[in-house]
Amino acid sequence: MKGRIFSGMRPTGRLHIGHLSVLENWVKLQDEYECVFGIVDWHALTTAFDNPEEVRKNIKEMLLDWLSAGIDPNKSIIMVQSHVKQHAELHLLLSMITPLSWLERVPTYKDQIQQLGKQGKDISTYGFLGYPLLMAADILVYKADTVPVGEDQLPHLEFTREIARRFNYLYQKEVFPEPQAILSKIPLLPGIDKRKMSKSYDNYIAMASDLAEIQAKVRLMVTDPNRIKKNDPGNPEVCVVHTYHQIYNPTEVEDIGETCKKGSIGCVACKKILAEKLANYLSPIMERRNYYSERPELLDEILEEGSKKAQVLTEKTLEEVRDVMGV
Ligand code: TRP
Repeated sequence: MKGRIFSGMRPTGRLHIGHLSVLENWVKLQDEYECVFGIVDWHALTTAFDNPEEVRKNIKEMLLDWLSAGIDPNKSIIMVQSHVKQHAELHLLLSMITPLSWLERVPTYKDQIQQLGKQGKDISTYGFLGYPLLMAADILVYKADTVPVGEDQLPHLEFTREIARRFNYLYQKEVFPEPQAILSKIPLLPGIDKRKMSKSYDNYIAMASDLAEIQAKVRLMVTDPNRIKKNDPGNPEVCVVHTYHQIYNPTEVEDIGETCKKGSIGCVACKKILAEKLANYLSPIMERRNYYSERPELLDEILEEGSKKAQVLTEKTLEEVRDVMGV
């Protein structure tokens, strides 16, 4: 094993096929690293504190999405953040040594406050300010040395390393390793309207979609706007459907692109092929999802087991931290 991984996702809604690429990467990492994957419900609460039912419901949905993608509870620890109180204790203890200015200058902080402010939501809370520190605690409490994340999370990783360094320096003990990010080479999948795929734009294809839902979404995909009639020559370079063919239909994408340029395949036909390919791609995932959703006791068991193992690992770290901090 190369080392230990922690990564997490906030249970804020249905996962889409952009997340699926992230999860497929986690699935591979399971064989190379000792992995802990966290459903970080406290992080979700920093923005969704006024919608607790939504958070609760999404924990199980997220677990189903993870298992259906192939995250394997026999290889990895799957845990819910709020079930392992050590995350909170480390967050509290680390807060004693965290300069306020470090939190205030994390680039996502003011951005997010502004963004959500525009939507009429005030998240200028203590909890939200502490978001990066809670994330640092998630990682450090396992002494994880590797964290697979998207580029948007790099400032948080840098912050985590700064906290680790400060702790080790203050107490003159190498308690925490400095965790490194691994950025996966994940294809950037646009939403059906060509913007970033996101729940808030409602432009996504959910991981748990059947053929009918996939067809409906693919029908709405943005194609070459200059192509009016079906026999007009098209430009695949600007077409979302084409981008998807590249990922989900690699053996035919070239041919389809050529026939599009000649104007000999229409968008309707091209979309129909893509919808079938996508449905095929998602079908084993849907099968695994159905298997697990018919066994709710199994889901409870997985979370309980995972949290127990996580408690054992994290308690060891906390013993050390309490000791050096005199509590
Ligand atoms: N902030 C991360 C995100 O949105 C979620 C997260 C919380 C996380 N704790 C983590 C990711 C620890 C990696 C490691 O997407």
